[in-house]
Amino acid sequence: MSGRILIVDDETDMLQLLERILSDETDHAVATRSDPETALAAFRECPFDLVITDLKMPKMGGIRLLDELKTIHPDVSVILMTAYGTIETAVEAIRKGAFDYITKPFRRERILVTVGKAMEWQAIVRENRTLRRALASKEDLDAMVGSSAAMKEIFERIRQVAPTNGTVTITGESGTGKELVARAVHGLSRRAARQMVTINCAALPENVMESELFGHVKGAFTGAWQDKKGLVAEAHQSTLFLDEIGDLSPTLQTKLLRLLQEGEYKPVGGVATQKADLRIIAATNHDLKADIEAKIFREDLYYRLNVLRFHLPPLRERKSDIPRLAYHFLRKYAAINDKAIREISPSAMEALFSQDFPGNVRELENLIERGVIFCRADALEVRDLWLDNDGGPPPGDASSDLYSRPFREAKDEAILNFHRRYIGRLLQNSGGNISRAAETAGIQRQYLHRLMKEAGIEAEGFRGDAGSGTS
Ligand SMILES: Nc1ncnc2c1ncn2[C@@H]1O[C@H](COP(=O)(O)OP(=O)(O)OP(=O)(O)O)[C@@H](O)[C@H]1O
Ligand SMILES: [Mg+2]
Repeated sequence: MSGRILIVDDETDMLQLLERILSDETDHAVATRSDPETALAAFRECPFDLVITDLKMPKMGGIRLLDELKTIHPDVSVILMTAYGTIETAVEAIRKGAFDYITKPFRRERILVTVGKAMEWQAIVRENRTLRRALASKEDLDAMVGSSAAMKEIFERIRQVAPTNGTVTITGESGTGKELVARAVHGLSRRAARQMVTINCAALPENVMESELFGHVKGAFTGAWQDKKGLVAEAHQSTLFLDEIGDLSPTLQTKLLRLLQEGEYKPVGGVATQKADLRIIAATNHDLKADIEAKIFREDLYYRLNVLRFHLPPLRERKSDIPRLAYHFLRKYAAINDKAIREISPSAMEALFSQDFPGNVRELENLIERGVIFCRADALEVRDLWLDNDGGPPPGDASSDLYSRPFREAKDEAILNFHRRYIGRLLQNSGGNISRAAETAGIQRQYLHRLMKEAGIEAEGFRGDAGSGTS
């Protein structure tokens, strides 16, 4: 497989000689630069597989160049050449990640063998990258479960959209899985070999955020001792995930728009514009349309971002996802906590269905995690879920000695007491009408029946002018 080689040397004779050797004897594409700066620019534009560089050059030495190349593209192979070959420099170069080191003058054979090895190595790197990508994407989509029509459609669209370069915006309430979608899109994209870079736009004050995103040059502000690369540069050839985009300040919205339109940006305090090669994925739980009306979000940015859009419905609108999700989390937390819980009892599942989940999938996940910790049998039961309060026993519970009893027993009793109080009040309000009571509580009629039986409550006591039937 032929690749791309860049030769850098301030001596043009050497450039021409090497170029001729490599063009004659190999089928790689060969480019030359006599100045390290322009070499870097060319490399940034489109990375080479192999860079052969002189060690001693004015302005920037070969070791510095090696460093810079490696930050742009860690997988690049670099061969250093020098007339002043010393062991120390060779060791330093190899330690910094150079592929090899040759001393001038060299024989034709020597350079051809070294270049051959470097290009073989590149082929392996490429293959690894492909494997890694295949693996990562499998993990990424496997991490997401769902069987509702809405989620199936989302999975399908992730597969379609991922290989393109289009900007993606993901909306949905908190905890619906926006970050997971972002990871899956990146994981299935051509950029998957590199890590996705994430920033939360709500987390930092505007000026910090700007230098975090775009980097800064030395002296841009007090404390800027040296140039600093921003996340946009870090996401080179990868994906930049802008979480909570709705919280981005107006100034930064403008700069982001420029990045999206022009593919350009300026570090804080810098004059030269930088080119960016990245894909942007944004997420928000804001209603951006409303933010536009309120003039806090730029409309033009909205349309730029909204090229490919995913909306994750709240969990309460896709309850058919609950069983799969619940089992997914059960397996996860049973493994983490080393417990042999294999099932979720039908009544526990029913209880899950009766929840509204304002915190969406994250809330379900937390619930199951807590349940797994409390559960002592091989199936998760309703009582393990602690659905009726925030995880502690009901405040001011009647049994004053509750806390001196074994946990399991105390918990069962506390829950039973709560059920009695809750159902009692429910039936009182509905005048003993079970269907109406179930509707008010948002649970199935059969489920209410079962709870009543467990709590020893009968509806009769609440009909007519009867008072409280609770014990
Ligand atoms: N479809 C799903 N399958 C498996 N796990 C999921 C799914 N959706 C969400 N989760 C899990 O729920 C939790 C919340 O998901 P995530 O962080 O992606 O939500 P989010 O929409 O980004 O929330 P926020 O707006 O609060 O940042 C994570 O632990 C995630 O792994
Ligand atoms: Mg998130």
